[in-house]
Amino acid sequence: QIKLLHIASHLLLCTVLCYIFIYLWGIVMWEACFRRHLSGSSRGTQGSMSAWVIDEYGTNAVLRYAEDVPAPAVSSPTDVLVQVCATSLNPLDLSMRGGYGVRRDPLSLLGGSSEFPLVLGRDVSGVVVDCGVEVTHFGPGDEVWAAVPPWKQGSLAEFVSLSEYEVSHKPQSLSHIEAASIPYVANTALSALVNAGGLSLCFCVCSRVLITGASGGVGTFSIQLLKAWGAHVTVTCSHNAEGLVRGLGADEVVDYTAGDAEQRLETMDRFDVILDNVGGETEQWALTLLKSWSGSKYVTLVTPLLSSTDHMGMLSGGIQAGLTVCDLSQSLLSSGVFYRWGFYAPDGPALDDIRTLVDSGKILPVVEAHFPFSQVPQAFLKLEQGHARGKTVVRVTEEDSSQKDALDLSSPIASGDMEPPGNRSYSQQ
Ligand SMILES: NC(=O)c1ccc[n+]([C@@H]2O[C@H](COP(=O)([O-])OP(=O)(O)OC[C@H]3O[C@@H](n4cnc5c(N)ncnc54)[C@H](OP(=O)(O)O)[C@@H]3O)[C@@H](O)[C@H]2O)c1
Repeated sequence: QIKLLHIASHLLLCTVLCYIFIYLWGIVMWEACFRRHLSGSSRGTQGSMSAWVIDEYGTNAVLRYAEDVPAPAVSSPTDVLVQVCATSLNPLDLSMRGGYGVRRDPLSLLGGSSEFPLVLGRDVSGVVVDCGVEVTHFGPGDEVWAAVPPWKQGSLAEFVSLSEYEVSHKPQSLSHIEAASIPYVANTALSALVNAGGLSLCFCVCSRVLITGASGGVGTFSIQLLKAWGAHVTVTCSHNAEGLVRGLGADEVVDYTAGDAEQRLETMDRFDVILDNVGGETEQWALTLLKSWSGSKYVTLVTPLLSSTDHMGMLSGGIQAGLTVCDLSQSLLSSGVFYRWGFYAPDGPALDDIRTLVDSGKILPVVEAHFPFSQVPQAFLKLEQGHARGKTVVRVTEEDSSQKDALDLSSPIASGDMEPPGNRSYSQQ
């Protein structure tokens, strides 16, 4: 009996010790994970960072440089924290500065939280400084590029936090300044041309595509993408951008300022896809340029969705915008063409495909101007002047300091008189 009791007590002791070991091991592992997440917020970012923020919507005057902006943290297992080397501006930044898309994050608004101070900037080229525990494709030190979703804090800052699925390894052949000019326009063009336009590498050869407003950020990228896919590309732009767009591969160029653009386009063969970067009146005449009853598509990037929701609220604005597109689509059914909206959708794997095209020299960055981080308001002013010829980039770190400091706004290039530049990059500085 005593022997049995002895064995039982030993077993009990072993079981208790096992439980204590498992318990302690659990605590250590939990703490390790927890610390990893905490380290995400502190490592490299030290809790606060420099950024350009806005505290209210308005003109350029609302832009404020601050050094005490809360730094983003790795707050989910799939987060990637990126130190920003360069970013670029898009028309969306001007619109967001003015309050466009103010209701873009319904969840945060339901919670009643303010989005101020708001950091603008939707492009990033930079270096990974920390990752969540489930991130498998990226690690600290990796050079990456990405487009930042509109509901997240932007990249006019030292650090930006992204999901692993939004990030891609940066093309090795590009500097950060050059790389920062591409992600937003690439994700937009891919979303518009592939998801809405039904085009792809396999379904593009010999397709006839018309791009309106081809000399800006989306247009200069789309020309190159479509040429890489084998399409025949016709574009509209003003006369002083003809050299640029032809240099990027456009087959036919129509000067919209000449007065006879519509007539010239009407004499051409009909198109399979039209990518409209201009909107407004363009829609009224360009829709008739599509092939009838052959699945042709009119994809416009100039949609009333966000402005409707801003003015009328999420539900009514969304319904109103939806009814507008339904009406138009129905009226076009009789002519056998499709009408669709295109939207920018951050997508890391899509940028992986673009990296291949960039590194093989099929897509070049088109950088019209670049500004130091201290001159973000000047960069916004440049954007506001319109007549973009590619992209305006902001250098957040100065590792590419061999490049020129700031755009001379009186230069012929800034005013739109430009020739196609050199081989690897359409940098105009
Ligand atoms: N829905 C979305 O998610 C989404 C995403 C990205 C962009 N967008 C919108 O798409 C549009 C294009 O974007 P982007 O980044 O390429 O803009 P951008 O860089 O400002 O380029 C616009 C270009 O269009 C040219 N242009 C102006 N009026 C024209 C006309 N009547 N005919 C032909 N060309 C004209 C401008 O040059 P000139 O004035 O010198 O001719 C400029 O080169 C913008 O309205 C933007 O807001 C929407």
